[in-house]
Amino acid sequence: MSYTRSGVTVLGGALAALLLQPGGSAVAQETDASRLIRQLELREAPAPVRDRPGWAPPQRIVVRADEARVAWLQSAAPGVELIAAPSLASALASVAEADALIGFCTAELLAAGPRLRWIQLPSAGAEYCVRIPAVRERDILITNAQRIYGPEIAEHVMAMMLAFTRGLYRYYPQQLEGRWNRGAVPQEQLWELDGKTMLVVGLGGIGTQVAKRAHALGMRVTATRRSSRTGPEFVDYVGLADELNDLVGEADVVVNAAPLTAETTGMFDAAFFARMKPTAYFINVGRGRSVVTADLVAALESGRIAGAGLDVTDPEPLPPGHRLWSLPNVIITPHVAGGSDLRTERLWTVIRENLRRYVAGERMLSVVDVERGY
Ligand SMILES: NC(=O)c1ccc[n+]([C@@H]2O[C@H](COP(=O)([O-])OP(=O)(O)OC[C@H]3O[C@@H](n4cnc5c(N)ncnc54)[C@H](OP(=O)(O)O)[C@@H]3O)[C@@H](O)[C@H]2O)c1
Repeated sequence: MSYTRSGVTVLGGALAALLLQPGGSAVAQETDASRLIRQLELREAPAPVRDRPGWAPPQRIVVRADEARVAWLQSAAPGVELIAAPSLASALASVAEADALIGFCTAELLAAGPRLRWIQLPSAGAEYCVRIPAVRERDILITNAQRIYGPEIAEHVMAMMLAFTRGLYRYYPQQLEGRWNRGAVPQEQLWELDGKTMLVVGLGGIGTQVAKRAHALGMRVTATRRSSRTGPEFVDYVGLADELNDLVGEADVVVNAAPLTAETTGMFDAAFFARMKPTAYFINVGRGRSVVTADLVAALESGRIAGAGLDVTDPEPLPPGHRLWSLPNVIITPHVAGGSDLRTERLWTVIRENLRRYVAGERMLSVVDVERGY
């Protein structure tokens, strides 16, 4: 079964019929991929990769993984030499004859690998790869891990939001000092979320999972996207990117889940924070460079906004002594929102499915639009 959503074909359960090779374990593996594609609504390219200029059945692929993982991948790429390269140095040593690269994208590797036609990124962000001139010049196919990190990052956003709205960020430092102070957080700052408004900037894989959970908590959810106003029924209003300034004023919680592109670099600046409600919280799980850090610090110090939950910062890592570390109304996690007990297998299951598709010349999943940058 397949259906379309926002003009993009999303695969359903029929994938389960496409077996990697005869054998029970292959059936189970393929069913896993099919389930993930459906649950995460992974996007499939409109045309098979064999139609791309320069595609040929690959002979050699370098994979950022150990030998055990590569052995696990092999059933998806019969006859292809998969080379385990756990480090950048080992990848550089074996990329010269490689047709594709899984898990790395650096200018050095592209220069050392003149035959490369496909790169699978392990990340949802693609900004560090699409900015390498050789990607565009050589028309290299880039696929990424868009939507895969949605479930755990959405839970991370909920954790940060509830830590603010239930006052945990103030009670926890008290606990460390052994202090029982019931008045540490004024009652009016201990919010019930029912009826509050969340604005999700970037209603993609992560943004949609965030919106779903916020809606389940009774929140009204608004959102922005770049290319369409369509969205799921649990989002009250979906606007385009240029509607951000109109929507921000009614939000109690603003969540950034947009990719880093030329358009989103520095989009959260003093003018943006000035439009936020002074009682509202800002949560960033997208990229640090979408925020003008000095402007965020000023908004937090002056009480212009109530608080910020930051999994990503600019700079990263945030250096010791940076002002953000010492602000009482900030929660910082060191770019870890994408980690979870289930993440690794979910990521590799999708990567293996993309490997199978590339080798077979089929339609690829999660193709990055190099021009738009995500
Ligand atoms: N904190 C972490 O550890 C972590 C982990 C994974 C990812 N991330 C970040 O999260 C980003 C999103 O990941 P994802 O999996 O959700 O990717 P995705 O599924 O590709 O979603 C990106 C969404 O952003 C929207 N968008 C693009 N430009 C926009 C703009 N100017 N204004 C508003 N919306 C805009 C896109 O709109 P359309 O749908 O209309 O094109 C799309 O809905 C990644 O690019 C990465 O930077 C962070």
